Amino acid sequence: MKKKIIILDTTLRDGEQALKASLTVKKKIKIALALENMGIDVIELGFPISSPGDFKSIQKISKIIKTSKICSLARCLEKDIDVAAEAMKYSNSFRIHLFLGTSDIHVQSKLRKNFSEIIEMAVSSIKRARQYTDDVEFSCEDAGRTSINNLCQIIKKAIKAGAKTINIPDTVGYTIPEKFSQIIREIREKVDNIDKSIISVHCHNDLGMAVANSICAIQAGARQIEGTINGIGERAGNAALEEVIMAISLHKKLLNAYTNIKHKEIYKTSQIVSQLCHMPIPINKAIVGSNAFSHSSGIHQDGVLKNKKNYEIIDPNSIGLKEVKLNLTSRSGRAAVKHYMKEMGYHQNEYDINQLYLNFLKLADKKGQVFDYDLEVLAFLDEKKEKFSYFKLKKFSIIVDNENNTTVSIRLLLQDKEYEASLTTDSGPIDGLYKVLKKLTNYCFTIQQCQLTFEKKGEKEIKKIDIIVNYNNRKFHGFGLTTDIIESIVYAMIDAINNIQRSEKIKKN
Ligand code: KIV
Ligand code: ZN
Repeated sequence: MKKKIIILDTTLRDGEQALKASLTVKKKIKIALALENMGIDVIELGFPISSPGDFKSIQKISKIIKTSKICSLARCLEKDIDVAAEAMKYSNSFRIHLFLGTSDIHVQSKLRKNFSEIIEMAVSSIKRARQYTDDVEFSCEDAGRTSINNLCQIIKKAIKAGAKTINIPDTVGYTIPEKFSQIIREIREKVDNIDKSIISVHCHNDLGMAVANSICAIQAGARQIEGTINGIGERAGNAALEEVIMAISLHKKLLNAYTNIKHKEIYKTSQIVSQLCHMPIPINKAIVGSNAFSHSSGIHQDGVLKNKKNYEIIDPNSIGLKEVKLNLTSRSGRAAVKHYMKEMGYHQNEYDINQLYLNFLKLADKKGQVFDYDLEVLAFLDEKKEKFSYFKLKKFSIIVDNENNTTVSIRLLLQDKEYEASLTTDSGPIDGLYKVLKKLTNYCFTIQQCQLTFEKKGEKEIKKIDIIVNYNNRKFHGFGLTTDIIESIVYAMIDAINNIQRSEKIKKN
């Protein structure tokens, strides 16, 4: 029978403790709800003794979360345990997660105790936590560097004292897959009461092995995996749960395992965590990076168009992503160009593919990435003959008062006529600029990406802003190139608007 792997998410604890600034309660609630919606079995909400803010947020969230089990971290100290129980008392079922260093280095130089004292601390703390809940997890901190004999000794006592989950953290991301599997196997062989508990693993990514170690631990008998969304966490981070979950899903037969996670929620949850934590996702990040389902080379693009499975192991729809992307660059072949033209509703006899492809290659060499609307322009708009009228920036100003209200005014020129609008907002200059431009042009788009690059031109430092906006489910690019960041943003937005406008005009003709 397939074994269910319990997923414990520690984004709000191990993940949050690594952020530059703590999350507000409001943001933590949003993340907790997204995790619950995704089907996470156990959500570790925080470390309540660490700050009154953490305590309050745990208390608040514990009243909201209904289907996932909630959990709080505590050291093996009476006050930590009592505070953890207090923080979660509004929930009818919660877990207390105790941790204590077990490696020689932690025992001697951090805790300054001997191993018998460590065992005593663990046992009495587990017993105390059990007075509040049946669900107690015990973590042997730095298990990856703990001798197997000490590990087995303390685990046996912890289970006897009432721990239902035994967590084996590779706290410093030191182990490698074969070694980590061996630790789990030896624990299962040598600890005679191990069947009375669930073995969990908690891997850090210092050697880039966190996900591999977690998967190997499942093969060796672990039944719970701990990690964070997008792999955020101390130093190089924790095991990225979206990667672990999809690896289990793809290899369910080999691993003889499954999770209860709703895969369709993965992408959305990853975006929520990234945005609220201000932690951008690297474009090549597995599963959720913006390039994870993009194909660039002509051979790959042709292969994907013939059969997605040629170069895709995961259906992007299965994680809640709508599209597969073929990057239009100078490496793309005719197949990708034809594909995008078809996507935009053009039949092949409406344009000359050979001419279009030649022009596309020239543009791609000049511009780098080409967008679908660029193809429309190349195919249908002879810019030399047709006079296309673009919005041009005449003037803009931003004034912020002492109550943080921002007044934005913009004057645009279109076909020799000037248009001006202004408004006051409390949501900052960028939002103000966007709203005024919307008022002036009637284009309602959302900014999906905004990238700033610095370029040195002689003495001057140029701030280049590239934005990608979504307009009616299509992506449009805009860029601005000036010495001032805000001015570059204004130009980038206007450039995107002009691209939208031009594309609409071509469609109408
Ligand atoms: O990495 C670690 O050891 C931890 C424990 C508190 C489980 O985060
Ligand atoms: Zn950790």
